[in-house]
Amino acid sequence: MEFKLNETNIILTKKNTELNHHFGKIKGPIFIGRTWKEYLKMFNLNSDDMVGGKLLDCAAGASSFTAEMSKRGYDVKAVDILYNEEADVLCDKCYEHMEVLVDGLESVDHFVWSFFSDLHDLKEQRNHACSEFIQDYRNHRKRYIAADLTHLPFEDNSFKIVLCSHLLFIYDHRLDYEFHLKSIKEMLRVSSSELRIYPLVKNRGMKSEFVKRIINDLHDVDADIVKVDYEFRKGGNEMIKIRK
Ligand SMILES: C[S@@+](CC[C@H](N)C(=O)[O-])C[C@H]1O[C@@H](n2cnc3c(N)ncnc32)[C@H](O)[C@@H]1O
Repeated sequence: MEFKLNETNIILTKKNTELNHHFGKIKGPIFIGRTWKEYLKMFNLNSDDMVGGKLLDCAAGASSFTAEMSKRGYDVKAVDILYNEEADVLCDKCYEHMEVLVDGLESVDHFVWSFFSDLHDLKEQRNHACSEFIQDYRNHRKRYIAADLTHLPFEDNSFKIVLCSHLLFIYDHRLDYEFHLKSIKEMLRVSSSELRIYPLVKNRGMKSEFVKRIINDLHDVDADIVKVDYEFRKGGNEMIKIRK
């Protein structure tokens, strides 16, 4: 299956903030990945959440969540618009984008250094996540599905919990409201129980204005903003939990 990267998919190509100045060097989606330990904290996930149903990581990038949770016996799949690329291409992209990201972080101070001790630690942990992802992507390709968030190739109610980290809300200056609403409705369609999205803030710890609008525009669901035990971007210690 092929996807065209249109203006909606291409994020952060404009130099509109200090950090985006660095991200501006990246053409197309930023392809990096957080560690599975970050995922557990960002989404308040425990083993009760993860047993008894499948999990789906949406816009999963090079995260090690699917690889590591699969090793632990959980049933996890990952979706990303770039999963039609070969492993070598994604590997190069990930290391290249990490360099740009780390360069960018050096010049800004709106990050909390608790999960990571410093930039070196961040780079090491994230690069490790990337290598875990690449190995799993090579060996278990069927876990990784190429798709756009607005058109997921799954039946209704296929997954117990759907997760989405670092695509929605955070890039609300590049991804419009319609994309947010459509993606969220689509992720809810394939979930039998709930959708969790993290973070709710964009640059400088400001909460995205789309959060309130989304809560108002969704019907027949319960949406709660929940505190989490993870904060790297200042103010980024909340997720939204949307239950069907
Ligand atoms: C910043 S990365 C976040 C990766 C991972 N979720 C994490 O938190 O570490 C954003 C990811 O979203 C993917 N992406 C961008 N637009 C997308 C879309 N329309 N549908 C699916 N994935 C998309 C990119 O390819 C990239 O891997």
